[in-house]
Amino acid sequence: MSLTHRKLRKIFSAFLEKHGHVEVPPISLVPQNDPTTLFTGSGMQQFVPYLLGQSHPQGTRLFNIQHCIRVQDIEEVGDNRHDTLFEMMGNWSLGDYFKKEQLNNFFTFLTDKNEGLGLDPNKLFVTAFEGNNQIPKDEKSIEIWEKIFKEVEISVKINERIFLYPAKDNWWSRAGEPNNMPPGEPGGPDSEVFYQFDIEHDPAFGKECHPNCDCGRFLEIGNSVFMQYKKMTDGTFENLPKMNVDFGGGLERFLAAAQNDPDIFKTDAFSLIIKAVEVATQTDYRNPSTQSSMRIIADHLKTATFIIKDGITPSNKEQGYVLRRLLRRALVKIRALNESFSTESVSPIVAAVLSTYDGIYFDAKSDTEKIIPVIHDEISKFRLTLDRGLRELEKISDINAKQAFDLYQSYGFPFEITQEILKEKGIHLSKEEYDTEVKRHQDKSRSSAQSKFKGGLADQSEQTVKYHTATHLLHQALFDVLGESVRQEGSNITADRLRFDFQCVVRPTDEDIKKVETIINEKINESLPMRMKVMDKSEAEKIGARSFFKEKYPDQVKIYYIGKDEDIQNAYSKEFCGGPHVANTKEIGKINIQRFKKIGSNMYRVYAE
Ligand code: SER
Repeated sequence: MSLTHRKLRKIFSAFLEKHGHVEVPPISLVPQNDPTTLFTGSGMQQFVPYLLGQSHPQGTRLFNIQHCIRVQDIEEVGDNRHDTLFEMMGNWSLGDYFKKEQLNNFFTFLTDKNEGLGLDPNKLFVTAFEGNNQIPKDEKSIEIWEKIFKEVEISVKINERIFLYPAKDNWWSRAGEPNNMPPGEPGGPDSEVFYQFDIEHDPAFGKECHPNCDCGRFLEIGNSVFMQYKKMTDGTFENLPKMNVDFGGGLERFLAAAQNDPDIFKTDAFSLIIKAVEVATQTDYRNPSTQSSMRIIADHLKTATFIIKDGITPSNKEQGYVLRRLLRRALVKIRALNESFSTESVSPIVAAVLSTYDGIYFDAKSDTEKIIPVIHDEISKFRLTLDRGLRELEKISDINAKQAFDLYQSYGFPFEITQEILKEKGIHLSKEEYDTEVKRHQDKSRSSAQSKFKGGLADQSEQTVKYHTATHLLHQALFDVLGESVRQEGSNITADRLRFDFQCVVRPTDEDIKKVETIINEKINESLPMRMKVMDKSEAEKIGARSFFKEKYPDQVKIYYIGKDEDIQNAYSKEFCGGPHVANTKEIGKINIQRFKKIGSNMYRVYAE
């Protein structure tokens, strides 16, 4: 039996702990307060402030295993090594050790039979940055690798064991190459390690094989980034306050190297899932003509399961759209292999994901009940129109953007699926034209909705405006009484009442709710003015303005604040908001909390008039 993912996690943790590292838990797949990215895409995401110089509460040697999604890889899935959801095993030195210790440690981890993976060093090939007009060649890494390989009696020659590449391959930042980095972004040259499989080079990918060749003979298994630089506004690079190491290796790829077979779908990160796909599609994984579709089904349902676990449901926007696209694409592929499949036949595939990661990311028992219904719901909705949509597509010999958008509207075919099906028939569908069509449609529906929803409030009668200001007082009063775990979940105002949903880890008592009501009325009686200030989002966060965590805010925000004087710092309530509000709290009159109830785990609802 080759290495299992559970064993690999143990070896990795024990190795890093032995070398003085502390484990940091992974963050959610949906990054909080980071509108620049849809999903967490690397282990370093949570460490950016520390790479830039802040000190980390857990020290200077850290490690974690982070589940990541790279949406840009969706199209690549189907070969033996790409997956949209992967786990990155990472370690960080925040101004502690640098190149020598990192490269030596990683080599030991890969090759040592007792404390590491015991891989054959002859199968490892390494790369380093060749330098450009701004950043010099990484001589130090080359020198360290030469020593490491000499010790195990492997001859080292440039372009035989060590390969040098330009920034396209050997520079890492979240934005990619140096030219693409925005000012303030950290990055640096990196050194990658590749595992060579026992397969012949495929000349279709170029005359000579080398680590970064795409034929599949070499697989990158780990990347040590030397995070040493920060991009400046004038395009130059300056040293960061500290020289850091940001290392990341792919868990599934380590498993592939350990089994000496490049197919990650044969590792136990996928094997149970693939088995379930075989049953649902009535197809054998070993059949080369359908293998790629089976990998897509396994990958997409696995990724979808993780996304739902981290709190997303299918929708037409952002993360929810990615989820919808993954589920629907998996379904199109399942149907192509087994036309008589049932919605329920997908459940065992999801169950296989849960049991593969039971106790790591999921609690198989309780999560089954939460996740399967979301998937069933989406699939049964799409099933109803799938056959008709496919028939419609069959008929098409040429298509324009408007028809593609109609397919989306009437049958729920995400653009990418329509594009993919048409591509098989040799028909090209342009994304730009499609986007223009979508925009035209949005503009139409927006202008009719706009008059109704000015500034976020559905109706702007005097009474709803009063309730709106009262909601701000209520929000802050809940914090006063129940503490910092309060999170707004939603708010709804009509001319008759206000309704406010929130999360909170302590269960509020009747007495707590009474206190909240008293505070609101005290603030109303103090006749406090409501003021507004436009400020940078980061500044607003710094002064502790309340926001709605489900909302993404722009860089410049409006903060409405209620306080005795003009200084926002002294204000009683400060909140991200678009208005409108009363000018003074005395206009509200008196507020009575009419009803209070529990609506979910740690979730409560208040009605007030
Ligand atoms: N941040 C680097 C990567 O994602 C190494 O962790 O490859």
